[in-house]
Amino acid sequence: MTERRQFRAIKGTRDILPPDSSLWNWFEESARDVFEAYNFRDIRLPIFEETELFARSIGTETDVVSKEMYTFSVQEVGLLSLLWDPITRWHGPWIKQDHLEAYKSIANQFLAEYQNALAQGLVEKSDFNRQVLKNLEDAIGGLQNATLASAQKFVMRVQAHAAVLELGYRVTLRPEATASVCRAYIEHSMHALAGDQKLYYVGPMFRRERPQKGRYRQFYQIGAEVLGQSDAPAIDAEVLEMLLVFFHRVGLTRTTLYVNSIGDKNCRPQYVELLRSELQKVKDSLKEDSQRRIETNPLRVLDSKIPDEQPIIEKLPRISDHLCADCRAHFAKLKDELKLRNIAYEENWRLVRGLDYYTRTTFEVTAEGLGSQNAVCGGGRYDGLVELLGGQPTKGIGFAIGSDRSILSIQETGAAPPVHPLNVYVAWMGAKAYPAAVGIARKLRNHGLTVELPPEEMKLKKSLGLADKLGARYALILGEDETASHTFTLKRLADAAQKTLTENELLEYLESEQRGSRA
Ligand code: HAM
Repeated sequence: MTERRQFRAIKGTRDILPPDSSLWNWFEESARDVFEAYNFRDIRLPIFEETELFARSIGTETDVVSKEMYTFSVQEVGLLSLLWDPITRWHGPWIKQDHLEAYKSIANQFLAEYQNALAQGLVEKSDFNRQVLKNLEDAIGGLQNATLASAQKFVMRVQAHAAVLELGYRVTLRPEATASVCRAYIEHSMHALAGDQKLYYVGPMFRRERPQKGRYRQFYQIGAEVLGQSDAPAIDAEVLEMLLVFFHRVGLTRTTLYVNSIGDKNCRPQYVELLRSELQKVKDSLKEDSQRRIETNPLRVLDSKIPDEQPIIEKLPRISDHLCADCRAHFAKLKDELKLRNIAYEENWRLVRGLDYYTRTTFEVTAEGLGSQNAVCGGGRYDGLVELLGGQPTKGIGFAIGSDRSILSIQETGAAPPVHPLNVYVAWMGAKAYPAAVGIARKLRNHGLTVELPPEEMKLKKSLGLADKLGARYALILGEDETASHTFTLKRLADAAQKTLTENELLEYLESEQRGSRA
């Protein structure tokens, strides 16, 4: 027999069990309610996408893309692998012209099949594959006129290039969903639809980060995005208003909103260069990560939490002093719009965010009770992203709320509401009472009540004990007496108050109770 083995959830993933799952559902439902009131609509996206979608959008130098993505290769194209085998293994040099001709023919067929597969997206449409394919075309071209004597060097080139071509394509579990929203926007020509596209999504994301409190490898986001032709600061402000109305709705009130503008393609490059040159001057006082970032992405140095680096960073030039006139005006208008809506915020010039697609507005919300992982939401503008992904010039702004952290904060600050109570436990006794118990359980459930019907008969005392442990508000007692008189005994478990009721009276009573508790 196979050895018994227990399994545990993979590091960084977790099960969300009842009653927490009810809290999660309530949290997500509340977001849907608020977002729909702002005329946002649900978009359901795939959990995995082509790797390059994320690499291009988020940026290859970012932590997310360079270290944290779950990427795997998917099925190779069968015919290509069949042809690939002889191309990469048949060595030469050949003594007979026939053998060389056979090799040429297979190489040509492979090339045609690969070009076809690339055009159809069956193999990775990466810059790497395109470049290697070009080299392969050149090598096969050279082979066409080669003689037995001269063929060897071309064969070796063909083999070298064919060996590194990817015969399938790589996919990645989504680390975030903004890139997918933009991909869907382009794929479905949503720019042609009326008005701005206001979309929201709810679901899991995946990042291979070091797990700790509030940081997981599978975590959940609720995100919202606005895509369209306008970049009016009123859009940014409305998005922030919606976010804070939602946080208020779920009792996440002890939060701080930080906002910043990181400029656009006209002014940010100059600022980044200035920052880089200033950082060079203090390079030796910085730690390794920051030193590396001077080259790869100087803005990210501003994100550093290392205590020794703080006084150095405080003295660096600030983006707010280097915005172009348009970006400055946009940011000023955003602040007016926030004031108009009574939205409290703090300006934080160091808020640059960890993803490359942002332009102008960036923001983050932190909450209490979370320790170092206290950002419950991040977002900003990404005006060039749709174009970068091959779409029309489009403006975009959005955010993503981290559900895990938000719910943790709600729980830790005591704002979590009681959810999903058990209304009625049906304590039935005797075979004669059973059909009536099944019937009334269904009726009560149809009336919107949560009802537990034990599948097997139990003694009254045991039944009431279990009802109590399950947290039921009422026990509905159905024994021989009740069955004979077509009545029910309803017992309130908190104070043991008891009533005998007909079916109609029972339904009426419980319904009015239910209405009362909702009011
Ligand atoms: P982000 O800042 O990478 O932005 O993530 C948003 C939020 O997701 C964070 O503030 C945090 O609450 C949560 N989060 C991120 N990583 C983890 C993790 N490993 N464990 C638990 N929670 C986590 C984005 O994802 C952008 N797509 C937001 C956006 C939308 N920007 C424009 N539109």
